[in-house]
Amino acid sequence: MQEKSISGLHKLSKEEKMHWLAVHYTTAPEETLEVLRSFWHEDEELQRVMDGFSENTLSNYFFPYGIAPNFLIDGRLYAVPMVIEESSVVAAAASASKYWLSKGGFKTTVLGTTKLGQLHFSWSGDAAKLQKLMPELRHQLLEDVQPITTNMEKRGGGVLSIELLDMGELEPHYFQLRVSFETCDSMGANFINSVLEEFGRSLQLFMSSHPAMHAHEREVEIIMAILSNYTPDCIVRAEVSCPVEALDDACINLDGSGFAEKFAKAVRIAEIDPYRAATHNKGIYNGVDAVVIATGNDFRATEACGHTYATRDGQYRSLSHCRVEEGVFTFWLDLPIALGTVGGLTKLHPLAHLSLDILGQPSAPELMSIIAATGLAQNFAAVRSLVTTGIQKGHMKMHLMNILNHLGGDTSDCLAAELYFQDRVVSFSAVREFLDRREEEKQKAPAKAI
Ligand code: MEV
Repeated sequence: MQEKSISGLHKLSKEEKMHWLAVHYTTAPEETLEVLRSFWHEDEELQRVMDGFSENTLSNYFFPYGIAPNFLIDGRLYAVPMVIEESSVVAAAASASKYWLSKGGFKTTVLGTTKLGQLHFSWSGDAAKLQKLMPELRHQLLEDVQPITTNMEKRGGGVLSIELLDMGELEPHYFQLRVSFETCDSMGANFINSVLEEFGRSLQLFMSSHPAMHAHEREVEIIMAILSNYTPDCIVRAEVSCPVEALDDACINLDGSGFAEKFAKAVRIAEIDPYRAATHNKGIYNGVDAVVIATGNDFRATEACGHTYATRDGQYRSLSHCRVEEGVFTFWLDLPIALGTVGGLTKLHPLAHLSLDILGQPSAPELMSIIAATGLAQNFAAVRSLVTTGIQKGHMKMHLMNILNHLGGDTSDCLAAELYFQDRVVSFSAVREFLDRREEEKQKAPAKAI
C-alpha cells in the first residue's frame, strides 16, 4: 500500500512518471511504456504544448475527429467538425443536416449573451442599509476593477450589473452579489473570476471603512468568488420548420402529417417525463458536446448549464419542443450555452484552431448558433429513428463494425458480416461465432470465403 503512494509526482520528468506508474500499477510495465510512447506526437514542440494543457501528462488519448456536412444555418452552409467516440452520432447529424438542407435549413436566434458570476459572503448587519448603499458600493466596486475591465470594455464587454441578494432566510447571514457580464467572443472564465475576486477585496475595504457601518458590521467574510455555469440569459434558439406534407419522405409507413404528429408526441413525452427527458437531452448533447470539444470549449460547463436550465421550473424537462399547427411542423431547441472563440484552447490546440477555421472563424454568438443547430439536428435524427425504424437499425451497423475491429476482423470479414447480419441480431458472441465459422471455412478451403 505504502509503496504505491507518492508525493511530488508532478516534480518527476515525464519518463520518470511513466516508469513509476508502469512499475507500481501495471501488470506489464514494458508494454505500458510502449503504449504510452506510441501515442506521443512526433512533433516534440506540439507535444510539449499538449502536455502543458494538464498535469502529470503521460501521453495523448485519441478521439475520432469527424465532419458533418450540409448544415444550412441562417442561409450559410457549414461543414461541422465533431469530436465523438460514439458510433452513429456523426452519421445521424449528417443525415439530419442533409434532410433539412432541401427544406430551408436551420434558423437560429441568439436571445442573449449575458454571463454570470457570484460573490458569496457572510455579513452580520442590516440588509436594508446595505441595499440602500448599493449605488455607492456599485460605483466603488466598478472603480476598483477598472484595471481588469478596461480591455474588455474596449472590446464592447465588461460588467453589466451588480445585484445584492439577501439569502439570510436560507442560511444565516448569507449574502451574495450576483454579477452579470458581457465577455464578447471569449468564454470569459478568467475575466469573470478575476473581477469577482477583486470585488471581494473591494467589498471588505468598503465595509470596514464606511462611516454608516456600526462596529459589528465592518467585517465581511468572503466565502467564495466564482462564475456561475448556469447562464440562462446566454441562450440561443435553433429551429426547423416546414409544411407537414414536406415530411412525406421522413418515413415509409406514415405520411408527413402522421409522422409530424408521432414525432411531436415523442417530444411531448420528453417534456413531461424526466426519465425520457434525460435520454432525449443526452441525444441533444451528443451533437452539442461533439462540436464544443472540436472547438476547444468546455463541455462540462455547457452540460451543467443545459441540465440546470432543463430543471428551471422544478422538474427536469426536454430542451427541445415541437408544434404541429395549421399544417406546419416546427421543431426547436432553446440552448443556454456559454462559449468562446478566442483565448484558451481555441488558439493553443491545433485541431480546435482548425475547427474554427472550418467554421469560418465564427464569433461566439455564431458558434452558439452552429452548436444549437447541430444539437437540434442530432435530436431530430434520434427521435425520427425512434418513432419510425427504431434506433437499433442504424446503431447496429456501427456496433457490428466495432465488434469486428475488436475481434480483429479484416475488410473481407466486415463486408461478409454486413451481409450476414442484415436480418440477424448483432451481439458480441454472435459475431465471434460468425468469425470462427469463417476461419474454419478458410482452413477447409483457403481460397473460398463464406
Ligand atoms: C443515444 O446516444 C442517444 C439516444 O438515446 C437519444 C434519444 O433517445 O433521443 C438515441
